[in-house]
Amino acid sequence: MSKILKVNPLNIDPKLIEEAARIIRGGGLVAFPTETVYGLGADALNGEAVSKVFEAKKRPLDNPLIIHIADKKDLAGLVENVPAEAEKLIDRFWLGPLTLIFKKTQKVPDLVTSGLDMVAVRMPSNMIAMKLIAAAGVPMAVPSANLFGRPSPTMAQHVIDDLGDAVDMILDGGKTEIGVESTVVELADGGIVILRPGGISVEELKSVVKKVQVREKPSWQYSLRARVIIVENDSKQIESVSSIAKDYIGQGNKVGIMSKEEHSHAYREFNNKAFGPESNLRICASKLFNVLREFDAENIDIIIAEAIPERGLGLAIMSRLKKAAAF
Ligand code: TXA
Ligand code: MG
Repeated sequence: MSKILKVNPLNIDPKLIEEAARIIRGGGLVAFPTETVYGLGADALNGEAVSKVFEAKKRPLDNPLIIHIADKKDLAGLVENVPAEAEKLIDRFWLGPLTLIFKKTQKVPDLVTSGLDMVAVRMPSNMIAMKLIAAAGVPMAVPSANLFGRPSPTMAQHVIDDLGDAVDMILDGGKTEIGVESTVVELADGGIVILRPGGISVEELKSVVKKVQVREKPSWQYSLRARVIIVENDSKQIESVSSIAKDYIGQGNKVGIMSKEEHSHAYREFNNKAFGPESNLRICASKLFNVLREFDAENIDIIIAEAIPERGLGLAIMSRLKKAAAF
């Protein structure tokens, strides 16, 4: 059994952090909250520990990990150089949900970067994460603490459900604040390319860097029991969702509707879970993965999800919804 320790984020017990740090230094795996989602951490410089991370998640070895640091100074040993644009982004967005990609040094094991000569690095703002990394005294390789293909965990229970005994310790610090993963950014001459939309929006990035492109690679689909259908965000959204729901129910399917809170009143006759109000995308982001997991646990066949506008955090939310749907 993995050991589960409750940590009060407002009053972090240094003894618990030290116990977890000892596991990391000894080459073990610890799951813990970051401000985005729960992560599965290992000593990034210990190849054997890193390979355990891939094993626990059943993650293909060609999918590189993000190194998490607790001090900007630790970048120096990991990356060849910090371009001026990166420096500006770091000043503005660290600590926080922004991952930057740099040319790596020899020190970073190839396993972490899946053989690429580039390494992704971020410095989280969650204080449990920060204190653990600082106490471990090593940079940590930290993917999301889900099984490969599953939505990322936003609470300790999700980690237990997915990884169970494959981790040595889980620090339970309650629900994560943001609920979607960090924005992953590559530097291109004079600008940046967003490889994964996330907690820092395009609009925020544009306030620091002029040239911002989004180039998300088409990716695998989340493995959910349910099929997910996204219904366009237009004036007929409620009618469309209701009629699709009725069709599928008529065919004998268990249907769940994942809607904006503003529309919930229209879906009273259905199994409806709101992921938050369209007027507050932060709430939508923080509840998204949990709603998907809840419907899955109810053995729903079809999830009908309402699209939201792709601005601000809406871009990250829609990118995850599209990953859940089959298109
Ligand atoms: O918010 C987050 O970033 C969370 C928390 C735990 O920090 N971590 C996370 O890690 O989402 P993971 O491993 O689930 O996702 C890492 C993403 C993947 O899409 C991976 O392809 C990309 O970052 N990535 C990592 N290293 C890269 C590299 N060298 N070049 C391009 N993409 C890279
Ligand atoms: Mg992940």
